[in-house]
Amino acid sequence: MPPVGEAPRIVLLPGDGIGPEIVAAARQLLEALGEFKFEERLMGGCSIDAHGVALTDEVLAACKKADAVLLGAVGGPRWDTTDPDAPRPEQGLLGLRKGMGLYANLRPVRPSPALVGASPLRPERIAGTDLLVVRELTGGIYFGASGRQGDTAHDTCEYSVAEIERIARAGFEAARRRAEHGAGRKGRVTSVDKANVLETSRLWREVVTSLAGEYPDVELDHLLVDNAAMQLVSRPAEFDVIVTENLFGDILSDESAMLTGSLGMLPSASLGEAGAPGLFEPVHGSAPDIAGKGIANPLATFLSAAMMLRHGLGRPAEADRIEAAVDRALQAGLRTPDLAGEGERSVGTDEMTEAVLVEL
Ligand code: IPM
Ligand code: MG
Repeated sequence: MPPVGEAPRIVLLPGDGIGPEIVAAARQLLEALGEFKFEERLMGGCSIDAHGVALTDEVLAACKKADAVLLGAVGGPRWDTTDPDAPRPEQGLLGLRKGMGLYANLRPVRPSPALVGASPLRPERIAGTDLLVVRELTGGIYFGASGRQGDTAHDTCEYSVAEIERIARAGFEAARRRAEHGAGRKGRVTSVDKANVLETSRLWREVVTSLAGEYPDVELDHLLVDNAAMQLVSRPAEFDVIVTENLFGDILSDESAMLTGSLGMLPSASLGEAGAPGLFEPVHGSAPDIAGKGIANPLATFLSAAMMLRHGLGRPAEADRIEAAVDRALQAGLRTPDLAGEGERSVGTDEMTEAVLVEL
């Protein structure tokens, strides 16, 4: 967090595809709110083109020194490859997560009241959904030993007690916070694993269970990941906080995002130890098919900027303002193409940004 009275230093990583458009829109929004010192850097495919690697040491160092990092999206068909030795844009993202120690990924899913009709689920099923996926982000199969020997390949999933403990605490604490701010309901953590098959999952379940006593105000239950995938679409409103390991969290957070009817609406925060800078980014990808057309939905990036203000910069009131402005723009009927229903008029990135700025 920046010293009191000083403008926060934000590293912007627009990335690839629609990334530059939505980050430019978010920058406009932040500039309307207050004073920030922005520093724009390359990460992802654009960095591969310029430097041959997705993340340079220099950019990583700049991110670690900043008060927060706001990211657009990385990747695109231009850099898709199965060659294990070729650089990939995603390596930049994984390098940032590991290099900045961002072990806790928070992905809140709260369908905007104006968009309930956009959900693929029936309105009565989606009504009342307000959940948070807390995904472990620097361990598991994403970072274990991997390789190829002849016609065989392997990836390894490994977790230590300490890694499970800190992410479980992040989950319990989030549930506690949400209960305090919510309408008096008790917080609940649903820990998701595959303890009937995987040893790492059995350790996961053991460690999460061992912490429950420290959070008597939070209910804890456990679900196997396949069952969790099913419950998420059949009774999404009953979830509060879902805590899970890296790969399961990747999959379940996309599934949760789809509950809202548009991946274009979902923000995320990736956090490390208290006081260290966090990384904030929309959950959606770089959408290369619509890049440069001026029709990208900037709302997930706006909501990510709100999470940055709340979780990264200690400015919750401004975060509330952004979230309320987004809700009002949607209520006023504005829809980017990804949100527009059959025959509904849609607006582009600029018009949506303008509308949110007006509502601010
Ligand atoms: C995400 C993305 C990344 C992940 C990719 C781009 C490496 O899917 O943030 O969910 O798998 O973590
Ligand atoms: Mg993903």
